Amino acid sequence: MDVATLIPLADTIPVPWGWFQALLLPTFVLHLLFMNLMLGTAVIALAGELWQPANPASPARDLAGKLPFFIAFTVNFGVAPLLFLQILYGQFLYTSSLLMAVYWLAVVTLLGLAYASVYLYRFRYDGLADKRRLVIGAVVLLLLAIGFIFSNNMTLMQRPEVWTGYFSQRHGTLLNLGDPTLFPRWLHFMVASLAVGGLFVAVDGQRQTLLHPMAVGRVTAGLRWFTYATITQILVGLVFLITLAPPIRDLFLGGSTLHTTLLLTGVTAALASLALAMAGQVWPTVAATGATVTLMVMVRDLIRHATLAPYFTPADLKVIPQYSSLLVFGLCLAVGLPFIAYMLWLATRAGKEARP
Ligand code: HEM
Repeated sequence: MDVATLIPLADTIPVPWGWFQALLLPTFVLHLLFMNLMLGTAVIALAGELWQPANPASPARDLAGKLPFFIAFTVNFGVAPLLFLQILYGQFLYTSSLLMAVYWLAVVTLLGLAYASVYLYRFRYDGLADKRRLVIGAVVLLLLAIGFIFSNNMTLMQRPEVWTGYFSQRHGTLLNLGDPTLFPRWLHFMVASLAVGGLFVAVDGQRQTLLHPMAVGRVTAGLRWFTYATITQILVGLVFLITLAPPIRDLFLGGSTLHTTLLLTGVTAALASLALAMAGQVWPTVAATGATVTLMVMVRDLIRHATLAPYFTPADLKVIPQYSSLLVFGLCLAVGLPFIAYMLWLATRAGKEARP
């Protein structure tokens, strides 16, 4: 069977594809950073509950107050890249979402449960006592499962050759488990979360050191999470690279100047962040981590372009010009951004006032 015949026809787009690509990348970077904050801080809170339940310096109580915000921002910053992704790759994403519909739709329920659990963790923090570890443990498991479902869909959409699995599995339960990149890729995202979560604890500790001398311990602990996770990440990243299909891997190993340069720059930024964290430099580590995540998101996008190249490239999309929609979008964005900034300011201020 010619698998290309399984790919639905692409819709037309109102402006050249570069506009959507330019919007997809930064919005996805934001989604990823918040996802990392959410999952990473949940794991750190769980570690605190398990190993230092009676330690007043444990960041778990503070993190309990932040987790609902992190979930809300992850979800909201996920919607924007989802829209741009659907415009650029709708014929692939809709198909893979249908093939694994049972899991894909389950995300809503799993996310609802995680959201409810972080509120329980936050508002019943003292009352839950020993059960806190169960509640935050459940949050971590739910988020790991959601991430796994996402990694499945983002890889299944790139493999029309396995879509024929539908003919033997017709109930929306097809996962992409046969893909050797799946687990390293998912682990890459999950381990990154520990690093970013640790960095958040360090930043938050740094802000508190003037008021609470014991917060210095949080800076050290946060940077330790960052350092160990980033060292692990180097190994996971290598495995991820090795499992890529040889023609794609070769692009990043000298076959293409753009691919190789971008990967090398990303790895250099990651190594710089590691050195800075080990030197105790919190804010420079934040800057180097931001650069690493941005560069790695670009690398990930190049992998998708290269994987789908035999079937499609977004430049193939037919443009039926309709610039007014872009203009309305731009205007809404310009009006909306100051409101979002104001809302963030209010949320930060409320957090400061609530802190004992
Ligand atoms: C329901 C709200 C959410 C929406 C709308 C959303 C949206 C997205 C989109 C559009 C992408 C792919 C972007 C691209 O390929 O360019 C993505 C990737 C990802 N999301 Fe989310 N997301 C949501 C919640 C979450 C949650 C709660 C997690 C929890 C861990 C998560 C973890 C991930 C991961 C790990 C990836 C990367 C998957 C991969 O490429 O292998 N997302 N998300």
